[in-house]
Amino acid sequence: MNKLLRKILLGYSNPQKYPAIRVKSNEIKERVLLYSEGKISDITANHSIVCEKPFCIAIFFLDGQQAFNLNKIEIRVERGAKVVAKLKLTLKDQIDAGGTSVFIYEIDEAKTFQLSNVRQYFLMRYFLREKKLTEKEGKIYAALYSYPREVVIISYEEDGYYNMFPMDFRRYYELDNLYVFGLRSTNITLGKILESGKLVACNTDAAKLEDIYYLGRHHSTMPPQKNDMPFELVKSELYAFPVPAFSASYKEVKIINSKKIGSHVLMIGKVVNKKEIRPDECSVYHIHFFEYVKAGYRQL
Ligand SMILES: Cc1cc2nc3c(=O)[nH]c(=O)nc-3n(C[C@H](O)[C@H](O)[C@H](O)COP(=O)(O)O)c2cc1C
Repeated sequence: MNKLLRKILLGYSNPQKYPAIRVKSNEIKERVLLYSEGKISDITANHSIVCEKPFCIAIFFLDGQQAFNLNKIEIRVERGAKVVAKLKLTLKDQIDAGGTSVFIYEIDEAKTFQLSNVRQYFLMRYFLREKKLTEKEGKIYAALYSYPREVVIISYEEDGYYNMFPMDFRRYYELDNLYVFGLRSTNITLGKILESGKLVACNTDAAKLEDIYYLGRHHSTMPPQKNDMPFELVKSELYAFPVPAFSASYKEVKIINSKKIGSHVLMIGKVVNKKEIRPDECSVYHIHFFEYVKAGYRQL
């Protein structure tokens, strides 16, 4: 379909699956809410995507605070009064992490409501489809990324070996100083991170988008050398791991628990050092195209 035809039929000539935006955390317009048996709980700050196959999210609650311990739940992404996405989930596992319980839910079904069904169908079918994903997984991605997902850079170094790569299946849970990550089980540095129990999560305040994607490529074989990095590096205070100079802050994390969920390994860590380098930080986020066209963020 040529550009003009696309524009006429769909309203967009060049839709991108996951536009990148750069915002402060208080500029995010969406919230994630858990609905169950007439009760509602805001889980925006205490949930994370942790696995792709099967698609799972983790929800964390301080002990004694979980309002829900139910087998079947629904979560909704809302922008103001508008429900933009709904997901149905089933409880799969529960992990204790000190003062917090981590509930793992598998996603059974997802729907998005930003555009008409017909427009969503054609966009998904012809422009936003990813070959590696089933139709159901495509819908789940659209629903999960209706809430913008923050990108951080994970850094690891030991005895001359080092690697840095982007992650957005992650969440820092401020209430219990806990950090949760979903890292693909094939990641070349996973074993080393688990063995040492150390990583540094670096913010993407002033990161160029192309540098983030550069760090996400060709790592299976040989991570690029420090000299090849297209940005300056500084050292983290505690672990002395490399931190990109574009980061306005970083968190040094001690992994305290891990579990293979499916395609990904869930890692639960405690933050042992929180460093703010510059105030008022922004971050790079990815958001699904459906939400992007309606929410009014500016694409990078
Ligand atoms: C924006 C962005 C976000 C990413 N988020 C994750 C993530 O949350 N989990 C993950 O396992 N890989 C994620 N990746 C891929 C990893 O950064 C990395 O490239 C991948 O694990 C490849 O490592 P490997 O080649 O050593 O297996 C992301 C990549 C990009 C570009």
